[in-house]
Amino acid sequence: SETASLSIVLLCASGDLAEKKSLFLALFHLYEKGLLPPTEVQIFGYARTEVSDDELRDQLREYLIPDEDDDYPEQVEDVWDFLNLIKYISGSYDSEEGFRLLDKEISEHEYSKNSGGGSSRRLFYLELPPSVYPSVCNMIKTCCMNKSNLGGWTRIVVEKPFGKDLESAEELSTQIGELFEEPQIYRIGHYLGKELVQKMLVLRFANQLFLSLWNRDNIDNVQIIFKEDFKVEGHGGYFDQYGIIRDIIQNHLLQVLCLVAMERPVSLNPEHIRDERRCVLESVVPISDDEVVLGQYEGYRDDPAVPDESNTPTFASVILRIHNERWEGVPFILRAGKALDSRKTEIRVQFKDVPDDIFKDKHRRNGFRICLQPLETIYTKLVYKLGNLDMSTHQSEQELLYWRQEGVTIEDAYENLILDTIRGDQQQFIRRDELEASWKIFTPLLHRIDRGEFKPLPYEAYGYGPKEAFELLRKAGYVETPGFLVDDH
Ligand code: BG6
Repeated sequence: SETASLSIVLLCASGDLAEKKSLFLALFHLYEKGLLPPTEVQIFGYARTEVSDDELRDQLREYLIPDEDDDYPEQVEDVWDFLNLIKYISGSYDSEEGFRLLDKEISEHEYSKNSGGGSSRRLFYLELPPSVYPSVCNMIKTCCMNKSNLGGWTRIVVEKPFGKDLESAEELSTQIGELFEEPQIYRIGHYLGKELVQKMLVLRFANQLFLSLWNRDNIDNVQIIFKEDFKVEGHGGYFDQYGIIRDIIQNHLLQVLCLVAMERPVSLNPEHIRDERRCVLESVVPISDDEVVLGQYEGYRDDPAVPDESNTPTFASVILRIHNERWEGVPFILRAGKALDSRKTEIRVQFKDVPDDIFKDKHRRNGFRICLQPLETIYTKLVYKLGNLDMSTHQSEQELLYWRQEGVTIEDAYENLILDTIRGDQQQFIRRDELEASWKIFTPLLHRIDRGEFKPLPYEAYGYGPKEAFELLRKAGYVETPGFLVDDH
């Protein structure tokens, strides 16, 4: 029978591999669901520090079995079986020695699973600073490629930041592109792996209701909002070099925008979907200065890792305009901030006023509120008649019927994404041309901020962000209407 081994290699920056908890947890969940069969899989950790297999397993066990006092014998057994699939190898990022050793270990694993024959699948997950991507990719290319003559593959998974602007991103793409073909490169933007982001495709293109409404004739404005109710906490050093636009807007919110705004793909073929995402990005016109509000929460510079004079925005509201037949004139307001009043990510679509409203109601607009997190839900906003003595109307928001899939549910974005890399489905990953198009949109603005020509406004920590952002929103055409279940901020 056909045999195929699968080697998942996690290359990590810190010696403390166990810190990559979410990754190991995602792998463990896939394992528990039977999606990583032990007859095929081996997981390798690769980092610089010397740690024994057992030490690493011990650290991970503490994390995977959250409360040792609780008695979940079955789960504990699963954890042990899972941990036994993990092997640790230490080596540097730029010398062949470590990578030759890694290759030897992978080959031994393949031999034992395939009894000497079978295809070999090698997945390299780079949890590393992008500055070492080129040298690590070079080492993988030189030492660790799939050698089976019975087929298989070698794939590379990388995570943001992919550069700091158009030029550095292109340089990185070129360096990696010289070593690997695009179908071998999986660029993760973890928002694409979120369930509801995927569900947008179905919602939009499988429902006539949405198909017919989704355009400039009906929609007045669209907001894509990301809020976090905590500060940069421990990531101040990283964050200060990037800021909220590079950290959240240029990637996560732009990816959400693509799914809200793209045209219907020719088919569900991943390349067709990526083609449409790229087209939307390429249709965005240059950002105008008076459609940007930047903020920095008070106290940000007290973080020991943040310079006293830092000009880095921790909040930004930016209006993007898509120059095409569907969206001409409709503002897409992207807003993201750290240290705000609550944590959530949502899309708000506001429809135009009803023409010649016989009810003489002011500010009654239909809308959709699509919440990605913390709770996956979709609300519609409709107008009703209230009471029976007159025609007074009332606006309220209802949850759209929404159900989860039965059986295997891959809820966590990383589980989704890891599974796709194994299956070879690149739909939820960012293609090189999409990346380039997304940097083109923000690079001129980012350069002005970097040069200190654009200053963030101070805002109170755990508040709503600068009030100027809401003025901008109103100026863009957004009308506050009663009836949203939560505040309109
Ligand atoms: C990361 C950012 O990409 O996304 C973090 O670097 C941010 O700053 C995180 O906190 C948010 O992800 P999520 O899935 O919790 O919304």
